[in-house]
Amino acid sequence: MIEKSRVETFINSFGSHFPDYLMDIEKDAIAGYVPVIRKSTQEIIKHLMLTKRPGNILEVGTAVGFSALLMHEYAPDADITTIENYEPRIPVAKANFDKYAPDGKITLIPGDAGEILQKLCEEEKSYDFIFMDAAKGQYMNWAPYLMKLLKTGGMLCSDNVIQDGDIMESRYAVTKRNRTIHSRMREYLYFLTHEEKLSTVIIPSGDGITISTKIGK
Ligand SMILES: C[S@@+](CC[C@H](N)C(=O)[O-])C[C@H]1O[C@@H](n2cnc3c(N)ncnc32)[C@H](O)[C@@H]1O
Repeated sequence: MIEKSRVETFINSFGSHFPDYLMDIEKDAIAGYVPVIRKSTQEIIKHLMLTKRPGNILEVGTAVGFSALLMHEYAPDADITTIENYEPRIPVAKANFDKYAPDGKITLIPGDAGEILQKLCEEEKSYDFIFMDAAKGQYMNWAPYLMKLLKTGGMLCSDNVIQDGDIMESRYAVTKRNRTIHSRMREYLYFLTHEEKLSTVIIPSGDGITISTKIGK
């Protein structure tokens, strides 16, 4: 069996050359220990933007705005709403949006995603593409909102579903501290793959990403 990291490195060697401003934001983020989507996820998101051309995007987990700007780069006509609750990152993300997306296509909503998702549902907002990249243990709690906010035919992508392999292990093999997230992520994966209104693939790339399409009426 070939080591997964070697496969990733090989595949990444064919990767896109993203614009310099994105590479700079990514470099600064990594240097400042701010998490951003991995290379393989960047390629998947780019591909989905170019092929699906979503008009309305919702992102949960802005950090400093790297993935929102990547989506804006490859779906420039899309209106992007992105949610972040960690105060120190909000002005950094806003400054990046002002500088690199001055067309105002990206709107940052500061605050807790649970509360904001509920509010967006009450306002009857809907999206063609939802990207989940925040508190992994909360995804299952937010799932009913996501189902309401996602248009039929729309796509829901959730990052880090494999959690560096922890999710595959027995509950007893993971540290006690990680057991709650372990069971919640497994529950979320079960939901994504068994909910009749969703068709889901789990892609074992990067830290694991799911792509779900809302089907039916
Ligand atoms: C992995 S980072 C997002 C990275 C970003 N998508 C990128 O690739 O550029 C996750 C972010 O979600 C935020 N977050 C976590 N829980 C949240 C919540 N309940 N509401 C809003 N934001 C949250 C964290 O503060 C963190 O900045």
